[in-house]
Amino acid sequence: MQPFLPPSLRNFTPNYMAFSTWVDHLPFGYDIVAAVRPQLLVELGTQHGTSFFCFCQSMAENRIDGLCYAVDTWAGDEHTGAYDNTTFETVQKHARSHYASIAYLMRMLFNDALNHFSDESVDLVHIDGLHTYEAVAEDFRNWYPKVKPGGVILFHDIQARMMDFGAWKFWEEIAPQYNSFTFKQGFGLGVLRKAGGPPLTDPLLQMLFEGDSETHENLRAFHAHAARFHEYKRKVLRQERLQEQRRLQQLEKQQAEQAAKQDSQP
Ligand SMILES: C[S@@+](CC[C@H](N)C(=O)[O-])C[C@H]1O[C@@H](n2cnc3c(N)ncnc32)[C@H](O)[C@@H]1O
Repeated sequence: MQPFLPPSLRNFTPNYMAFSTWVDHLPFGYDIVAAVRPQLLVELGTQHGTSFFCFCQSMAENRIDGLCYAVDTWAGDEHTGAYDNTTFETVQKHARSHYASIAYLMRMLFNDALNHFSDESVDLVHIDGLHTYEAVAEDFRNWYPKVKPGGVILFHDIQARMMDFGAWKFWEEIAPQYNSFTFKQGFGLGVLRKAGGPPLTDPLLQMLFEGDSETHENLRAFHAHAARFHEYKRKVLRQERLQEQRRLQQLEKQQAEQAAKQDSQP
């Protein structure tokens, strides 16, 4: 049997990073898109775009012929706090310059976006809006019918137990009712598969939804480790960039000093 080599291990370096607790799930975000190969992906809650652009990157690099929709007011909510228009402008600029043919931004309420999608049309939904119990329950209730049989729904922040966050409680209730998998690192990510659809042939989907407990532990350990590795690599690269900047500044300063010395000589 061939060992499974996740696409994130072979060729993934996140090309877009913004402040977000999604950093703990980027390799998995990349791999699940490569596994589902969605014709239609919908994200509910995008803000700076960390998760969304990870999905788009996987679509592009794994040559997946599909479309990605990001739904957000880009105004913030009770948990993120209100933010100004520069967040939307930055996301829009990156989407246009890197993913013009696949990424669509829908600046509206999740409920207003519902009518734009037919029932059982979406392969992958990511629920990452307001994280109260009521909001997550409503997003799931409204968007579940939009998902194809066998499609996948991701829930972010299912481990966050602060303030009035309630995604963890909703996840505890519904996860046992479906084919599901829980990532515990960071703020947690829930993966749920809607019943039906063709038999699973992709190795990651088989491991997630048909694997034994040892496979599940290995999968959790791998993705927690992979996310830490990317975060570490990003910090090293940033450090190297800073050092290079300082070196160039030093060089410019020396050249300016030399030029000034020459000018002052008779
Ligand atoms: C936690 S942030 C999204 C984080 C993002 N996925 C990332 O990778 O960092 C939640 C976003 O959901 C948006 N939001 C919350 N409830 C919403 C609703 N009902 N309709 C539209 N946008 C909503 C907020 O504006 C906010 O930008």
